[in-house]
Amino acid sequence: MTGAQLADGNLWLHFTRTSDWIAEHPTVPVLERGEGCYVWDSEGKRYLDGLSALFCAQIGYGRQELVDAAAEQMTKLPFATNWSYAHRPAIELAGALAERFPGDIDHFFFVNSGSEAVESAMKLAIQYHRLRGEDRWKFISRNYAYHGTTFGALGMTGLAGLRKMFEPLRPGHFHAPNTNEYRCVTSQACPPCDLACARSIEQMVIAEGPDQIAAIFVEPVQNAGGCFTPPDGYLDEVRRICDEYGILMVSDEVICAFGRLGEWTGAERYGYLPDIITFAKGVTSAYQPLGGLGFRRHIGAVLGEDRTSMYLHGSTWGGHPVAAAVALANIEVFEKEGILDNVRSNGPWFGEQLQALYDKHEIIGDVRGTGYFWALELVKDREQKVGFDDEETEHLLRGFLSNRLMELGLICRADDRDEPVIQLSPPLIAGQEELGEIIAILDQVLTEAAQEMAS
Ligand SMILES: Cc1ncc(COP(=O)(O)O)c(C=O)c1O
Repeated sequence: MTGAQLADGNLWLHFTRTSDWIAEHPTVPVLERGEGCYVWDSEGKRYLDGLSALFCAQIGYGRQELVDAAAEQMTKLPFATNWSYAHRPAIELAGALAERFPGDIDHFFFVNSGSEAVESAMKLAIQYHRLRGEDRWKFISRNYAYHGTTFGALGMTGLAGLRKMFEPLRPGHFHAPNTNEYRCVTSQACPPCDLACARSIEQMVIAEGPDQIAAIFVEPVQNAGGCFTPPDGYLDEVRRICDEYGILMVSDEVICAFGRLGEWTGAERYGYLPDIITFAKGVTSAYQPLGGLGFRRHIGAVLGEDRTSMYLHGSTWGGHPVAAAVALANIEVFEKEGILDNVRSNGPWFGEQLQALYDKHEIIGDVRGTGYFWALELVKDREQKVGFDDEETEHLLRGFLSNRLMELGLICRADDRDEPVIQLSPPLIAGQEELGEIIAILDQVLTEAAQEMAS
């Protein structure tokens, strides 16, 4: 398979400008194999995968243990549903997750992707409230947050640019300010954060009807916009708001769970207990598609209250035995190799190296993140926090950075869904050698980017 065949346009890509591949010279690489933290394209060029594919290749590529687990399960029982039947891999996986997720998050429902996990959490929240006699159907999430593309998840997504084309969406979605401390919109005094961002959620709850809000969705660290970390006390405050008004708190951990922040869950990393955690991506280190949600006992109790009740939701492939078997093997690798410890010990070092880049490169306005999840916001004027205009951003990200990073063999994400950012999310097996390679390439590219923008 070559770039030229891709240009025929038989395969249609996701969220990719058609001009990037249906073109005389497609710029989209055709990837062929992977090993450790690296992938190779059809021309034999090697890339360091600084994005873990799309925040999901936690233990890197070429792991025979996961291949063996899949092959063994395919041989024994390639498929059975979780719909009126059960099977050993899904039962064992649910048990393994119950041991590793915080508090009494003991019930697990499996689907196939992050968007489906978000849809499922929405339906679970609505049904939970209705069974308790409350008609709650509205949701609050945050500006710029990405929660997926299916219609419910799209309503939850706080990116107007993604929603607009498909409106009207399901009614009842409201988007509150996020925790962008670099460009805070809720408080003149920030930083330090005075939690006005959390208070704005409470104001929204009161304005939209506290008895109508089913759930508040937050990522522990918000990806879109560039790794907005939660200020001290913020997530506890969201928890308090949920408790005060009878709202469920959903931690969307499609990216943050499974070691990205150095713990099994972001909730554990920041010490809060949501009612529901959604996950996908890293649960199988991307060797199989699998998503799901874990929920607390009080929700399970309402759904199982009488003999005829059930969660009114399901899908054929949810909890596929091969995916579940791979997820179990993935957890085993995490534990055998101390993957969480690796993130805990090298994450701060990675952050220091990024901070050193900030000290050196005026084009970096802000460095934010934690664990193996970081973003660099690029600015025209650091002192005044002046960003690039649309035309400049287009030139910087698409005209220069994306191509140059690929030329130098680094996969990461140059994104402008809010201000322009470079997003980094390396495989969790990366050591200082690979992290240092990312830093060295960024150092070169940012020097060139500043020259490019100056000219
Ligand atoms: C926080 C969050 N939720 C949901 C999704 C949707 O996941 P998927 O692409 O698997 O549908 C994503 C995808 O990146 C995500 O980051």
